[in-house]
Amino acid sequence: MSFFTYRKGVLHAEGVPLPAIADAVGTPAYVYSTAALTGHFGAVVDAFGEARPLICYSVKANSNLSILRLFAGLGGGFDIVSGGELARVRQAGGEAAKTVFAGVGKTPEEMAAALDAGLLLFNVESAEELEALDAVGRRLGKKAPFALRVNPEVDARTHRYIATGLKTSKFGVPFEEAVALYERSKKMRGLKAAGLDCHIGSQLTQSSPVRAALTKVAGLYRELKARKHPLEYLDVGGGLGITYTDETPPSVAEYARVVLAATKDTGARLVLEPGRSLVGNAGVLLTRVLYRKLTPAKRFAIVDAGMNDLLRPALYEAHHGFVPLVKRRGKEVEVDVVGPVCESTDVLAKARSLVLPQPGELYAFLSAGAYGMSMASNYNSRPRPAEVLVAEEAWRVVRERERTEDLWRGERA
Ligand code: LLP
Repeated sequence: MSFFTYRKGVLHAEGVPLPAIADAVGTPAYVYSTAALTGHFGAVVDAFGEARPLICYSVKANSNLSILRLFAGLGGGFDIVSGGELARVRQAGGEAAKTVFAGVGKTPEEMAAALDAGLLLFNVESAEELEALDAVGRRLGKKAPFALRVNPEVDARTHRYIATGLKTSKFGVPFEEAVALYERSKKMRGLKAAGLDCHIGSQLTQSSPVRAALTKVAGLYRELKARKHPLEYLDVGGGLGITYTDETPPSVAEYARVVLAATKDTGARLVLEPGRSLVGNAGVLLTRVLYRKLTPAKRFAIVDAGMNDLLRPALYEAHHGFVPLVKRRGKEVEVDVVGPVCESTDVLAKARSLVLPQPGELYAFLSAGAYGMSMASNYNSRPRPAEVLVAEEAWRVVRERERTEDLWRGERA
């Protein structure tokens, strides 16, 4: 998180002291660093060099319009999983022609809207979906460009909730059924075979599963080309992990070497779908301490952010660093940091060594840029947080904190 640093004991995002943002917009609030976002994107461009892959940022990781606009401005495309994400991409000025569409449950309406917009690639995840896409293509008098998402059946060695490449996973079509499906598609007039796709999971911290999966998938790509399928794109998915605590994921350079080595000689244009590695360490969640509860069994710090604002700890037992915005000396004790939500799983940081937090004090949850705000909900009727984007010494609100009235928008009493 090198764009978030202490200066004279005060945590800054680039040149902006974070307490100033917390005081101005309130807490909880997500804060993102433009330099981090741009730097992470640029590192992928540099690592892949002359291969010049299409970098389709995975919108689900953080779908704020200003982040989408930033990546579009850097030449990025997008990886979407719903009609809503397509609408966001277009609203932010992104190009449908650089957008790929994954997901096991695309509706015919979503397919039609994407085809109409001129989508680059539908990543199709089942035989029945392929037939539905063909029907949409024929109805609109177009050939829908598709890639089959194949399941390479490798263990990504990540948390079981975010592994997608296992035989038992709902994602992708079984590897051994792919050739027959491409052959069948030759007779479907609403389709055009344009690529091949895979994605084995998220928060990958080892390169060997990536190598194993892509070696298999590149072999299949060559076979399909030999069978005269007019493929152009090899979409290798996303998943590169980041450091939350002590993980040591492959560097982008190492990841690029593995991808390029496994896919060389395919002649394909590579498509990448990075999410977390672009935004995860570009964001923090600011929170304020409300109370302490010191029981004979435990010390709790109760903060104003809850699992509705940052779901990852409750859902995946994920670890996010928790640090004070203003450093204070003192003896460290073990503290559980919990939110106000009425659920026992609303524990945001467990058994941390901290100088006992004081009511009113400000803290940040680190590495919260990916799957933070995008997974936030209104559970317990809590308005979702504000989002702020910093650039050098300047900052601006890129999403207002929800107001109380927003909580019942569309409802009838
Ligand atoms: N492509 C596909 C087809 C995906 O399913 C995903 C993530 C990505 C790309 C981007 O993966 P990334 O580079 O961000 O790892 N909510 C979970 C993560 C779910 C990932 C879902 N798919 C979390 O908070 O850890």
